[in-house]
Amino acid sequence: MKTRIIKIDGTDAADAALAEAARILREGGLVAFPTETVYGLGANALLPEAAKKTYAAKGRPSDNPLIVHIADRTDVYRVAEDVGETAERLMDAFWPGPMTLVLKKAAVIPRETTGGLDTVAVRMPSHPVANRLIRLAGVPVSAPSANLSGHPSPTEARFVIEDLDGKVDMIIDGGPVQIGLESTIIDLTGAEPTILRPGFITRADLERVASGVATDPAIEGPPAKDLVPRAPGMKYRHYAPKAEMTIFRGSPEAVRHRITEELCTAKKQGLRSAVLCTSEHAAYYNTDILKCVGSSASDEEIARNLYRCLREFDDEGAQVIFSEQFDGGRLEDAIQNRLLKAAGYRVVTV
Ligand code: TXA
Ligand code: MG
Repeated sequence: MKTRIIKIDGTDAADAALAEAARILREGGLVAFPTETVYGLGANALLPEAAKKTYAAKGRPSDNPLIVHIADRTDVYRVAEDVGETAERLMDAFWPGPMTLVLKKAAVIPRETTGGLDTVAVRMPSHPVANRLIRLAGVPVSAPSANLSGHPSPTEARFVIEDLDGKVDMIIDGGPVQIGLESTIIDLTGAEPTILRPGFITRADLERVASGVATDPAIEGPPAKDLVPRAPGMKYRHYAPKAEMTIFRGSPEAVRHRITEELCTAKKQGLRSAVLCTSEHAAYYNTDILKCVGSSASDEEIARNLYRCLREFDDEGAQVIFSEQFDGGRLEDAIQNRLLKAAGYRVVTV
C-alpha cells in the first residue's frame, strides 16, 4: 500500500488533505495523526473491519482493546452507557486532554474495537489537529499509539513513518507532540475509580475531583502470574529497546560512580554501551552512546524525550544500556512505569 504523508502547516492544501484524511477514516481506512500525548493510528470505531485492519497494521494481538477518541464531550453518551457522576466531574476537569475513561460500552461500538470487552475506553484529545480530524470524520475514531506492537509510542511523525509506512493510508505530520507519554487510563466500571495506566494526569490531580481513587496493583510491579492488569495492553512487554537496559537507583553520586564502573566493564567486553541520563550529569560519562533525556529540574521535558531516546538506542546499535532513575517530580509514576518496562524491571540499588 502507498502511504500518503502530509504536513499540517496552515495552508489550503493542508486543509484539503485533512478533509481527505477524514473521508478515509469514515470509509474504513487507516490514518495516523498527532495527539497531545503520542501519535495515534486512527480508524472508524464503528466498523469491525477497520479495527481488524488496525490490529494487522500494528501486529497487535486482537484481544488488546483500542481507545475511542471523540471531538465533542456529548459524544461520550453515544459510545458509552451509564456515564455517571464521577465521570462527569473528571471530564469537567480534564477534557479535552490526556485522560481516558473506561466505561460501559454502548451497542454501536463493535467488540472488535474493544478487544471483545463490554467496556469501552474513551478519550477527547486536546490537540487541534486531532480534534479537527475527528470532527470532520463525523464518527468516533479508535486510535492506539501509532507504533508497531512492542515499539515505543511515536512522539514525532518520523517514528510513525519508520513503523507504519506502506501499512496505512495516510500519516499526518503535525510536528513533535507536547507530552510524550500515553494518556492516564481510569476505569470507572468498578467499585472505585481505578488507575490502569499512569500518565500526565496524576493520581493527585484525580484525587482533587474524585474520591477513593485506587491503582491497579498489577501495574505496580513486575508481571506476576496471579496479578493480571485490567488494561490488557499493560501485560505486554512494551517500550523496550533491543539492548538489555538496567536502571540504577540511589544517590546521584553513587549512581554516577556505579554507571562509570559498568561502562569500564562493558568496554572490556567489547560491548557498544549507552547511557540515559539527565543533562546535569552528561559530562560524567565516557560511553559510546549518550542520551540526555532532559533536565532533572523538568520532568515534563524527561517525559517528552524518553521514547525518542529509547528508539535512538536501537537506531544507533546500543548493546547494553545503563539508565539513571528520574524520580521526584509530578510525573514520577508515569515515567517510572515506562522506564521500568523498558528495562524489563531490571533495577540495581546502589
Ligand atoms: O494517549 C493515548 O492514550 C494514546 C493516544 C493515541 O490517544 N493511545 C494509546 O493507545 O496509548 P494504546 O492502544 O497504545 O493503549 C491503550 C491501552 C491499552 O493498554 C489497552 O489495553 C487499554 O488502553 N484499554 C483500551 N480499552 C480498554 C478497556 N475497555 N478496558 C481496559 N483497558 C483498555
Ligand atoms: Mg500503545
